Amino acid sequence: MTTPLPDRGRPADEVFADQTEWHSEDIDWRGGRAFSLVYNADDPSLEELQHRVAAAYLHENALNPFVYPSLVRMEEEVVAVAAGLFGTDPRAGTMASGGTESIFLAVHTAREHARSRGVTDPGIVIASTAHPAFSKAVHYLGMHETRVPVGPDLKADPEAMAAAVGPDTALVVGSAPCYPFGVIDPIPEIAAIAVANDTLCHVDACLGGWLLPFWERIGEPVPPWNFEVEGVTSISADVHKYGYCFKGASVIVYRDEPMKHHQYFIFDDWPGGLYGSATTAGTRPAAPIAAAWATIQHLGLDGYIAKAEVVRDTTRRFQAGIEAIDGIHITGEPQMSLFEFAADDSPDITGAIGDVMDDRGWKLDRQNGGLHLMISPGHARIVDTFLEDLAYAVANHGDTRGVAAGYGGVV
Ligand SMILES: Cc1ncc(COP(=O)(O)O)c(C=O)c1O
Repeated sequence: MTTPLPDRGRPADEVFADQTEWHSEDIDWRGGRAFSLVYNADDPSLEELQHRVAAAYLHENALNPFVYPSLVRMEEEVVAVAAGLFGTDPRAGTMASGGTESIFLAVHTAREHARSRGVTDPGIVIASTAHPAFSKAVHYLGMHETRVPVGPDLKADPEAMAAAVGPDTALVVGSAPCYPFGVIDPIPEIAAIAVANDTLCHVDACLGGWLLPFWERIGEPVPPWNFEVEGVTSISADVHKYGYCFKGASVIVYRDEPMKHHQYFIFDDWPGGLYGSATTAGTRPAAPIAAAWATIQHLGLDGYIAKAEVVRDTTRRFQAGIEAIDGIHITGEPQMSLFEFAADDSPDITGAIGDVMDDRGWKLDRQNGGLHLMISPGHARIVDTFLEDLAYAVANHGDTRGVAAGYGGVV
């Protein structure tokens, strides 16, 4: 398809009408049909605030901190809040555009740290369930990775990871929780491997960072996962996931502030003068920074706790409903608000169930072994409809259409 530049500019209403029509064919996340991609806070006053903040900061650029002191202040405060929740120095991090960039920065920091110890070919050791962002970072950064199979509980297997660590290991990783099964890796054991081998240890709390602190406060069991654990050196946590900001907001924090300096890139051999940057982007959108700050301030501890309760109760309703349907089961023992379920009999049947759910307008991520659900507050409204459709799908599916498992994609 070729799209020429229009010879004459088109009226704003006409342009927007085109987009509105196309947009109507996208997933209906407000109706609770999406289970990843969007974290629906189901909170009109928060959403209105985010729209106002986004409009106010739409054209600003967080590249140059010297001309936007308000952005510097908000970024520092968002990082400080995260650092306070995870137990580290309030200055020991930056914001990033998302989980992938936070992970990229943590892997890069580990590479530089390893090089400073004389390691010439640094690598990382991660569980098979760790997010592909680690493999992407390793690929971009010219490093190598060892992916280690998980144990029968679907958590990272510390013994197997320890066996995979060698003199060139720069980083070991645990997830809190991992995306595929929603289980929290044994962070103390993984961090102990880091201490024993003088490597860094990253906890990928992109999903759990803005939920586990409140999960714990509402009485749910949360194993140790943050800087209280000796040996944990960095944590990624996405404000655009369970922090309920819109897209483009994550935090990367370190055990101490000097470690953050590995992120700094300073270039002074340019006619334009000194160029400095702390993250991978040059020009940085300001709206996600401003909206992350506003979201955190608007929700506060009581707001996050209230949302954690809704997420917990809704997750339980989904899980109880799924377990009550003959022929399907939940995989493993998920510890937060995301999980996989699968047909008892065969992956083909799981696929066929997914086909019927697709036809009924649900968008479940298809994994290699099952279908994936991640619960947001907005899902509280659709649990019963979803479970009715799922029971129908389990009882009435045909043959699988063979849709491949996948997450993200290229076109
Ligand atoms: C555990 C985990 N880590 C990292 C990421 C990557 O985050 P992003 O898609 O914001 O780059 C995700 C995304 O779902 C995730 O679930």
